[in-house]
Amino acid sequence: MSFIKVIKNDRVATLTISRPDALNALNAEVLLDLQKAILELETVHVVVLTGEGVKSFVAGADIKKMSEMSPLQARAFAELGQGVIQLLEQSPFITIAAVNGFALGGGLELAMACDLIYASKNARLGAPETNLGIIPGFGGTVNLVTRAGFHRAMDLILTGRSVTADEALQMGLVLEVLESEGFLAKIEEKAQALAHKGIHSLLAVKRLVRGAAQWDKERALLVERESFATLFATGEPKEGMTAFLEKRAAKF
Ligand code: CAA
Repeated sequence: MSFIKVIKNDRVATLTISRPDALNALNAEVLLDLQKAILELETVHVVVLTGEGVKSFVAGADIKKMSEMSPLQARAFAELGQGVIQLLEQSPFITIAAVNGFALGGGLELAMACDLIYASKNARLGAPETNLGIIPGFGGTVNLVTRAGFHRAMDLILTGRSVTADEALQMGLVLEVLESEGFLAKIEEKAQALAHKGIHSLLAVKRLVRGAAQWDKERALLVERESFATLFATGEPKEGMTAFLEKRAAKF
């Protein structure tokens, strides 16, 4: 049985991390199931990632398992976690983290791997690793800086404190805070709206906006204009602009 539930609705897939008795904590099995579920997705434009229940998105990496790890096992575990993070970051669909409760440590890292992060009112986000004598191991030290800035990343990781959804919004760590009631239905609406846009333009934006944080400006502008040009070899610009001129909705 998999720790990941997959529900497909047209071009949107919702992946639910389901290990509720441990607040959806990530052990190697959960990470491998998530990796498998992502690799098996086909004809999907948008993926929503969430956690089972109303209390927790993911309460971090599995502390019980980590407490028994040797240095080599810890490295292999971090490699596995970082691999899943990179798979999400480079995936050929738009990813949305629906943070429906605790997103701590590896849970925050998983959310930050997504292209968009929405939080429910009851969410709490943080990087409590230093409280455990460890550090973020699934990309947190890198991604928290680009998401929230140098000082906030330092503060959150050094203190290990968690923040409310509203504080996370102020920090730019989440895009929007939504009522807990009907949270997933609202995310599904947003996902469906995105899924009906042209996938080629969405994925070009994903690659370019992610690249902008890593590439120098000259390279970023080169890739942008190349992407702009190659999009015209897909049918999307023709349909999008013809629809505008004909005053109708585009059908991608
Ligand atoms: N790993 C393993 N089990 C976990 C867990 C975790 N990260 N988080 C919660 N659980 C388990 C608890 O042990 C408990 O199990 P039992 O019922 O068998 O005792 C169950 O989930 C419910 O948790 P609590 O009773 O603690 O629930 P609570 O409502 O009192 O507290 C909480 C919720 C504040 C999230 C608390 O569970 C907590 O602090 N969890 C740990 C959070 C954390 O430190 N995460 C970071 C892990 S390190 C990491 O992620 C490293 C990395 O980057 C790779």
